[in-house]
Amino acid sequence: MSEKVEFEEHINPNLQNLAPSATLNINEYCDRLQQEGRDIIKLGLGQSPFPVPDPIVEELQKHAEKKFYPRARGILELREAIANRYRSRLGHDCSADDVLIGPGSKELMFILQMAYRDPLLIPTPTWVTYAPQARMLGKQIHTIDTSFEDKWHITPEKLEEFCETSEQKNHLLILNYPSNPTGLSLPHEHLKEIAEIARRHAMIILSDEIYARTHHRKGEHESIVKYYPEGTIFSSGLSKWCGAGGWRLGAFVFPEELRWLNNTMTSAISEISSGTCTPVQYAAIESFQDRDYIEEYTDHTRRVLGSLGGYLSDMLKRSGADITRPDGGFYLFPDFSPLKDKLHSHGIRSSEQMCERILAETDTAILPGSEFLRPPDEFTARVAYVDFDGEQALDASKDTHPASKKLNAEFLKIYCARTVEGVKRICDWMKKD
Ligand SMILES: Cc1ncc(COP(=O)(O)O)c(C=O)c1O
Repeated sequence: MSEKVEFEEHINPNLQNLAPSATLNINEYCDRLQQEGRDIIKLGLGQSPFPVPDPIVEELQKHAEKKFYPRARGILELREAIANRYRSRLGHDCSADDVLIGPGSKELMFILQMAYRDPLLIPTPTWVTYAPQARMLGKQIHTIDTSFEDKWHITPEKLEEFCETSEQKNHLLILNYPSNPTGLSLPHEHLKEIAEIARRHAMIILSDEIYARTHHRKGEHESIVKYYPEGTIFSSGLSKWCGAGGWRLGAFVFPEELRWLNNTMTSAISEISSGTCTPVQYAAIESFQDRDYIEEYTDHTRRVLGSLGGYLSDMLKRSGADITRPDGGFYLFPDFSPLKDKLHSHGIRSSEQMCERILAETDTAILPGSEFLRPPDEFTARVAYVDFDGEQALDASKDTHPASKKLNAEFLKIYCARTVEGVKRICDWMKKD
């Protein structure tokens, strides 16, 4: 018998303490608890509950036989469709050459951080992934803390102050609005002022607008591209607004001025994944067209999300949390700090302990604010209000008239029952002595 080989664990130091993504992790943990027989309400992972619209699924079926490797930057027809939409919606000139397709915008963001040399700058709370990606690449990370009083927005004053005092000149600033985790979107005035500051400091902005089409008020989403076209990379995808997270397709649109970054990223993609699943790219062409059924779909998904978000936010507020009604997406970010004394008296000192106790005692999963780079002892948490049957809710919304009116509590208690129940459990737990 040959001797057993012992391998030493020579992990790249940048990945030494890398934990699985918090959102995917909570989902797996909930699945395990469910297998043990517990009925867990899952408000941890932010996944759209709505089905992919039928005509887009049919496109995928139609193109399943497309078996060739795609071009690294994406198939031309899809890049043209995205450029057309971008031109007509944002009024900014661009062509298929400015568009880059990736297997999810997450991977494009990783490759962007790899391709661009300078540090990452993010406001907190922030989406869980930007900072771990930077850490994996050994990049410097700078953060700007926001507050509930400022609606968790990065303010132009704070950005200006950062730029004035930072020793480093260039940064990649990532803005995400409507935001994961807060559900809030940047006011148009802020966008304008942030654009001016970024221009003055030659800062590149990645504008993560993956929740744009879920904005709860139709027509209100505005992009910073409008104010800073030459320095903004626009990021979007299929995962949130049309429920196709598992299809893995994301897109960046670059300004002409950043063509060098686009080209470098394209070369990197050609060495990493060779591009994005070809049939999915063909199917995605349909999702970037102006179609009545897409308009109807987004009208009703935003109606369900907006009505539910407002209702749950009011419930959480009544339980004592600091919270603002969301503008888009499917997240709430309550701050239970006003209940700090009570939480302390129960031996709870961090948002992580708070969420662990809520899960243990109410079978409801949410994520602690610390995962979003908030201070560990601040009692914030993210609630992803998506544990309901989106297909049923969508159909029921279409049958509820007039379509311009919000859906009432009765509707939400029937069609979003598990989510309403989960938030009720959290509120009851908070009110307990
Ligand atoms: C803010 C934000 N950006 C980007 C992504 C990544 O989306 P995808 O890689 O599916 O395009 C997500 C997904 O959770 C997100 O919440």
